[in-house]
Amino acid sequence: MAQDLWSGIFQAKVPPLPESLSFVGGKTALITGANAGLGRAASLQLAQRQISTLILAVRTRKNGEATKADILADPIVAALSTKPTILVYEVDLGRPSSVASFASSILAEIPTLNILLLNAAMVISTFKQSPEAENEIMFQVNYISNAILSVRLLPLLRSTAESCGQKSHLSIVGSRAQKHNDFIEHPIPDSMPIFAFLNDRKKFKVYKRYADTKTLVSMFVRELAKYVDPSVVTVNAVCPGMVKTTINDKQAAWIRVFIAAVFAVRARPVAVGARTLINAVAAGPEGHGQQMGDYQIWANKFLETEQGKKMQKRLWEETLALAEKEAPGSVQEAKLQA
Ligand SMILES: NC(=O)c1ccc[n+]([C@@H]2O[C@H](COP(=O)([O-])OP(=O)(O)OC[C@H]3O[C@@H](n4cnc5c(N)ncnc54)[C@H](OP(=O)(O)O)[C@@H]3O)[C@@H](O)[C@H]2O)c1
Repeated sequence: MAQDLWSGIFQAKVPPLPESLSFVGGKTALITGANAGLGRAASLQLAQRQISTLILAVRTRKNGEATKADILADPIVAALSTKPTILVYEVDLGRPSSVASFASSILAEIPTLNILLLNAAMVISTFKQSPEAENEIMFQVNYISNAILSVRLLPLLRSTAESCGQKSHLSIVGSRAQKHNDFIEHPIPDSMPIFAFLNDRKKFKVYKRYADTKTLVSMFVRELAKYVDPSVVTVNAVCPGMVKTTINDKQAAWIRVFIAAVFAVRARPVAVGARTLINAVAAGPEGHGQQMGDYQIWANKFLETEQGKKMQKRLWEETLALAEKEAPGSVQEAKLQA
């Protein structure tokens, strides 16, 4: 009882990663949302652990360059005999055209990619559409853009594994908050495409949407993993727990006040939360297709239900159709057809 109360209030400790964990050996990692919060901390930890090339994918170049300078000035990184090469790329995950041109630039300019860490996400308290597409913005940023980037960059992760003789990693940052998703109580009717439902202002539930998008991430990862050999590319999602970042800064004022109080008691320092991301991009095949919660596999029970499995299939089909529409040939190139 006392233990339940304790774990309800406080989070479990995330032990330090083994000192021996290293990304040495000419590896390249790409991180989205690399200029803030968990993405920034994970980028630093990859650099400290001797990644060779770090691609900071950011919305604003200036912020990316500032992060690059901070990483290179870090005492551990500065003391390395070989400093990482840090490249800054711009991408706005809210704009499909930006995602498409970013993916094309990476494919054209980056010869190998060992780690793809799709970390960026957002939370707001209103219905807003992507400036280009009619997609609801959290659905666009947290789910659609991550799925599209996974499809586009999977061939590069595969070819890198072949040329390096070591498996690659694709991790999407999810959240255990997905257990509060709305699909359990209010399934999307079969008569309506999932994308159309989620983009319908009248169906939008503000306090459910973040959890819904993170559920979609888990569904996508589960389905994607079926098409990918884990000894070539390990695919997973990861939840870092509650972490002191600015993710809630764009929420309504009263939510920010409430969350700040909860964060003060419960949230982890960002460097501690970022360990879980580093663990995910170094994980073995046991977590393939799964979401990690801290260092362990964590399951959303809804995904095991018939309703969840059916929705996962529908989501997969709609997602691949969009990927194909946005980049013809990409689905076949990623070998994602049955
Ligand atoms: N913090 C937590 O308690 C917690 C818990 C569970 C899961 N997570 C997950 O952890 C991941 C990182 O979140 P965080 O807490 O580190 O949040 P954060 O501090 O708000 O950082 C989010 C990052 O995503 C970027 N981003 C947001 N919208 C973007 C867009 N349209 N295009 C490109 N980049 C965009 C931000 O860029 P700008 O700086 O340009 O805005 C920022 O770099 C997210 O997937 C989040 O859902 C966080």
